[in-house]
Amino acid sequence: MTDDRDPSVSTADGFPSGSGGHDPEVLRQRALDALLTARARTATLTDSVDDGELTAQHSPLMSPLVWDLAHIGNQEEQWLLRAVGGREALRPEIDGLYDAFEHPRAARPSLPLLAPAEARTYASDVRGRALDILEGAPLHEGGRPLERAGFAFGMIAQHEQQHDETMLITHQLRTGPVALTAPAPPAPTDADALPAEVLVPGGPFTMGTSAEPWALDNERPAHRREVAAFHLDAAPVTCGAYRRFIEDGGYTDPRWWAPEGWDLVREHDLAAPLFWHRDAGQWLRRRFGVTEPVPDDEPVLHVSWYEADAYARWAGRRLPTEAEWEKAARHDPATGRSLRYPWGDTDPTPEQANLGQRHLRPARAGAYPAGRAPSGAGQLIGDVWEWTSSDFLPYPGFVAFPYREYSDVFFGPGHKVLRGGSFAVDQVACRGTFRNWDLPVRRQIFSGFRTARDA
Ligand code: AVJ
Ligand code: FE
Repeated sequence: MTDDRDPSVSTADGFPSGSGGHDPEVLRQRALDALLTARARTATLTDSVDDGELTAQHSPLMSPLVWDLAHIGNQEEQWLLRAVGGREALRPEIDGLYDAFEHPRAARPSLPLLAPAEARTYASDVRGRALDILEGAPLHEGGRPLERAGFAFGMIAQHEQQHDETMLITHQLRTGPVALTAPAPPAPTDADALPAEVLVPGGPFTMGTSAEPWALDNERPAHRREVAAFHLDAAPVTCGAYRRFIEDGGYTDPRWWAPEGWDLVREHDLAAPLFWHRDAGQWLRRRFGVTEPVPDDEPVLHVSWYEADAYARWAGRRLPTEAEWEKAARHDPATGRSLRYPWGDTDPTPEQANLGQRHLRPARAGAYPAGRAPSGAGQLIGDVWEWTSSDFLPYPGFVAFPYREYSDVFFGPGHKVLRGGSFAVDQVACRGTFRNWDLPVRRQIFSGFRTARDA
């Protein structure tokens, strides 16, 4: 397995040299699988509603689903067909329509977008050509940076999966008949044995990666970080715990809130997580078109960074920093190495983490004992994205690759980092080093949190 301290597999900026120590044919097959998995999920998300719903805007926060579909195809065309394959543009006139920086989400429904049938044909034409290019691409040593270790193919599979998660958020925001269903996630088997919190001892650890072939630019390069000893919740904060914050007057007491968070509470009359409401003394929530009682033992979802921060202060605790989160998730005190995942270096199995939209909700706190980290913390990967206290900033030695608009333009104090992935993210876009970010006001995303305290 790859080792972030082995300089032979990485360059100074953290991008793999050659195939990064991986067999190019294994990477080729992995890229094919990842692209096919993503497209099957895109089909589920876009075939489950009619054309009217595909072109409608279900929330001003989101694009019409048909925009995401053609944008997925357009990004694939730009990177796999044009940049890697050297092909001419299939439809150069549509690039502007699907440039996320040219048109904010709220403006997208009024653009002359491809109709659903055209968008499907376009995405599948692009895909056919991309698979031809993948077949012949030199993924071996000495290749061009985009092709090394199959990076561009992995990047595009991750991009599609990220938009699939975005489309799932649109599904959650939409009202109307139920369109998506899935079985419940596994119940905890030893929740009683799980402590409330774990102790992560102080000392340096390796943060980020230079060895993971498809790690995105913002995860690189691997570097040492000193982290003082701290305690971390062994599981994400549950709906039941969050309900006690509400019932203790959490949303009416400015003491718990950052000033901008308190402004937000008053401006929007916030009183509970998004999608929750009270009926006859009971808390209910809407989840993919179904109204149901809020489950006390499930991680809380759809809270903004401000709500997570306020809860933590109310509880006499704080959000973990991003470095603390990653140390708790990856550091193996037995070897001093940082693992790819909490359980080790192997790809996630359904016994270890709730990923990939196999379920349409997080598993109850204490589930997935096979997925726990050496620190003892569980459910770090999958279930809910976890807000950290940290701003989204570049690591020392960061190099934007292959385009500044993926990460670089978002660095700064405006965006907070989320870690660990949700039930709605596929494993190709989730690992111990993966960094997500959003505005601290956002709550339609599949966001939860856990709390920490100094040791
Ligand atoms: C990393 C999830 C914040 O959706 O805005 C998709 C991913 N970047 N297309 C986003 C992304 C370009 C990005 N996030
Ligand atoms: Fe995108």
